[in-house]
Amino acid sequence: MQVLLINGSPHQYGCTHTALREIAAQLESEGIDSQELHIGSGPIYPCTACGGCAQTGYCVFTSDPVNQAIELMHKVDALIVGSPVHYAAPNGSLCAFLDRMFFRKNKSYAYKPAAAVVSCRRGGASAAFDRLNKYFTISGMPVVSSQYWNSVHGNTPAEVKRDLEGMQTMRTLARNMAWLLKCIEAGKDKVPFPTHETHVATNYIR
Ligand SMILES: Cc1cc2nc3c(=O)[nH]c(=O)nc-3n(C[C@H](O)[C@H](O)[C@H](O)COP(=O)(O)O)c2cc1C
Repeated sequence: MQVLLINGSPHQYGCTHTALREIAAQLESEGIDSQELHIGSGPIYPCTACGGCAQTGYCVFTSDPVNQAIELMHKVDALIVGSPVHYAAPNGSLCAFLDRMFFRKNKSYAYKPAAAVVSCRRGGASAAFDRLNKYFTISGMPVVSSQYWNSVHGNTPAEVKRDLEGMQTMRTLARNMAWLLKCIEAGKDKVPFPTHETHVATNYIR
């Protein structure tokens, strides 16, 4: 089993990476593989609402790793998204990345467990965490929880490592993710996926 870890920070080896590494190490000790995808520090196009992905399943913009993430989502069993907190929100580039990664992809992501983790110096962690969870909860992805809302505190990787409760929260999240993945695997041929009604979209108009 494989978990995709998206590092949404402009710092490839910064605080967010430190949190994701702690998760990866714990997943490994539970027999679960993972791979980290860094979104990079270059410009990320926002979603221009062109609808191109509805035709192909991929984004029309190819200069950043959004399509790589979409491709990986077909292969992996679960997703964890990590972000630094910027003004009490996820990093703006990451939001642009996820808008394009998630738009019109709900069907292929459904039933894959997901979680968000955030890194901040001091405040805004839970607002950023809430925002990231919105991508999963509109996509039919079971959200995996931990012993606290998933955040670490620090301005440098060394400071993050000194946040003992934050690091423990990462390890607990990894154990919970491993447990759910094993439950899903064990039930694969016994419990069918739910069948759903045709989607109703009323746009608040009667
Ligand atoms: C533009 C910007 C805005 C930030 N806003 C916040 C904030 O609202 N709250 C906070 O606690 N830290 C804030 N920080 C600090 C980062 O969230 C913190 O250093 C984080 O751990 C960095 O993670 P990284 O090394 O993975 O980028 C901000 C940093 C930047 C660059």
